[in-house]
Formats: sequence, C-alpha cells, structure tokens
Amino acid sequence: MFWSLLSGIILMCLAFTVSAATPQDLLKSYESQSGKASSVRGEQFFNAKHGNEWSCASCHENPPNHDTKHIVTGKVIKPLAPSANPARFTDEARAEKWFKRNCNDVLGRDCSAQEKADVLSWLMTVK
Ligand code: HEC
Repeated sequence: MFWSLLSGIILMCLAFTVSAATPQDLLKSYESQSGKASSVRGEQFFNAKHGNEWSCASCHENPPNHDTKHIVTGKVIKPLAPSANPARFTDEARAEKWFKRNCNDVLGRDCSAQEKADVLSWLMTVK
C-alpha cells in the first residue's frame, strides 16, 4: 500500500517534470524550427484579422494582461501574457493545443513555427 502510493507520487512528479516548460523554453523551440522571433511582427500578427472575421485580440484583447471575454460564448479567458498569468506557456501540449485551435479559428490554418515564435516573444514583453 505504502509503496504503491509512493511510486504513484514519484510517477506523477516525473510526468510533471517532463511536460513542464517555461515561456523561454517554448520560444527557443519555436525559433529553432524557424528563425529569430520578432515581437513587432508578433504584435501585428496578433491584431490582424488575416482576411477573416476575428483577430487574436477579438478574444484576448490588446494588451492581453487582464481577464477578457470569449467573443462568442462570453466566457472569461484568463490573461494570455505570462507576466499577468504565470501558468501561461508552461505546458507545451496545452500551448500547442490552443495555438492549433485558435489559429484555425482566426486564419483557417495552423500557425507556423515563425508565427508562434513572433507572438510568444511579443507576449513575453507585455507588462
Ligand atoms: C474565439 C476566441 C479566441 C480567439 C479568436 C483566440 N483565442 Fe486563444 N484562447 C481562447 C480560449 C478559450 C483559450 C483557452 C482558455 C484559456 O486558456 O484561458 C485560449 C488559449 C490560448 C493559448 C494557450 C496558452 C497557454 O499556454 O495556456 C494560446 C497560445 C492562444 N490562445 C493563442 C491565440 C492566438 C495566437 C490567437 C490568434 C491567432 C488566439 N489565441 C485567438 C480563445 C481565443
């Protein structure tokens, strides 16, 4: 009983270390798949509608440093900037899942590694 509990806890810790990341780690990984990030380009990308109905700012607002509302459901979205929400970009799978979904909603396609690097580098400058 004790040993199975203990090994369960150890496994959980291992799983956490594997998936835990920092915004800097994720930025490095996106940059290694593309080129150096530009926060200026990232902010423009975030504000642009890309020929469709929404921009990233439609749900996250600009600056995304406070609670905002989902443009369709009205549900509260926590701040996207890591300075205002330390949980952001600390889990690669989670960040990837939402990039995929949100990029599809806004651009009608997945974002490229360069676009993710640009947006993330800009978000890291938001106070
Ligand atoms: C229609 C509303 C909507 C739009 C438009 C939108 N998002 Fe989001 N976004 C969400 C919701 C909902 C979540 C998940 C809830 C949460 O994490 O608070 C989310 C979460 C995220 C996350 C997860 C970050 C993390 O580590 O927790 C990223 C990255 C993200 N959005 C990026 C973008 C980008 C880039 C765009 C523009 C291409 C965008 N979003 C446009 C609603 C939106």
